[in-house]
Amino acid sequence: MDEKKVMLSGIQPSGDLHLGNYLGAIKNWVDRTEEFDNYYFMADMHTITVRQNPADLRRRTLEQLAQYIACGLDPEKNTLFIQSHVHQHAELGWVLQCYTMFGELSRMTQFKDKSAKHKENINGGLFTYPSLMAADILLYQPDFVPVGEDQKQHCELTRDVAQRFNSIYGDVFKIPEPYIPKAGARVMGLTAPDSKMSKSMPEGCVFLMEKPEDIQRKFKRAITDSDTENCVHYDPANKPGVANLMSIYSAVTGRSYEAIEQEFAGCGYGKFKPAVGDAVVECLRPIREEATRILADKAYLENVYKAGAEKASYVANKTLRKVYKKIGFVAR
Ligand code: TYM
Repeated sequence: MDEKKVMLSGIQPSGDLHLGNYLGAIKNWVDRTEEFDNYYFMADMHTITVRQNPADLRRRTLEQLAQYIACGLDPEKNTLFIQSHVHQHAELGWVLQCYTMFGELSRMTQFKDKSAKHKENINGGLFTYPSLMAADILLYQPDFVPVGEDQKQHCELTRDVAQRFNSIYGDVFKIPEPYIPKAGARVMGLTAPDSKMSKSMPEGCVFLMEKPEDIQRKFKRAITDSDTENCVHYDPANKPGVANLMSIYSAVTGRSYEAIEQEFAGCGYGKFKPAVGDAVVECLRPIREEATRILADKAYLENVYKAGAEKASYVANKTLRKVYKKIGFVAR
């Protein structure tokens, strides 16, 4: 029997999971569970490139695990783990820093954005973050890395670093492909359709655990466009607000843009916005209920992340041993 291909991805528990994380990343993970050998983790080590409140970080990491499972990631079919529990990430991260160029790191959009936002704390970790992300990925020799559009640049750097390493030492790393969804790859803020949805704009951001009435309020207040047309038509350049709502509706219902235009022909934004809100509420309701139930069972969560770390360490260690040998470290 052919071995299954490998998928791997992670999310930083630096804020509560939101609709962008779900549609850009997690939904793709869940949809492809059966076909792949899957590794999904809470990227806690990445979060400390920005100051975190320790108690909040601990709580959010466990909430994120409960939400992964509630979204449909069965721990029997997916290796779910906490990044800091698998020490090989830090070890390979250091090695790969020595194979990532200063110029490459300087060009990363996430570094530029975050260093502009956190001027008082532009630390070394923020700069070398992509080398750690490359390690997260390459340790597991994945075929695909399912992420939203904003992580494409980091995935491309990972490929460049892996190719550089392989060209010196032979075929150590598999070269992974980013795997980006058609609808939902870049969910924009509901109050600012020119910026991606993120926790830093709470009124424009829909969180997975949010109450239905709050979700509805946010969709009703979503910025549509100031054209006089008032018609649901997909035109991202001229109608970014409506295009964003249409891509959310499409990702949640599976309907095409043409089908959505027909469904709302002659209705105007006043009917369209609450309809998108309803579809999102119904999509998130079972996730919220299941996550609340799972989160109450701390022993179960502990079993999941301990078993996940054990399995992940085993796989990660194989790659790390190979790397250490190639670069000339004496075997333990
Ligand atoms: P992070 O934690 O910012 O985001 C997690 C995932 O959610 C996607 N995403 C979005 N997709 C669509 N629309 C949005 N508005 C939106 N906001 C976020 C992201 O593209 C991502 O897939 N560096 C990564 C975490 C990471 C990682 C990894 C990912 C660390 N190591 C290894 C993959 C593989 C990050 O900061 O994503």
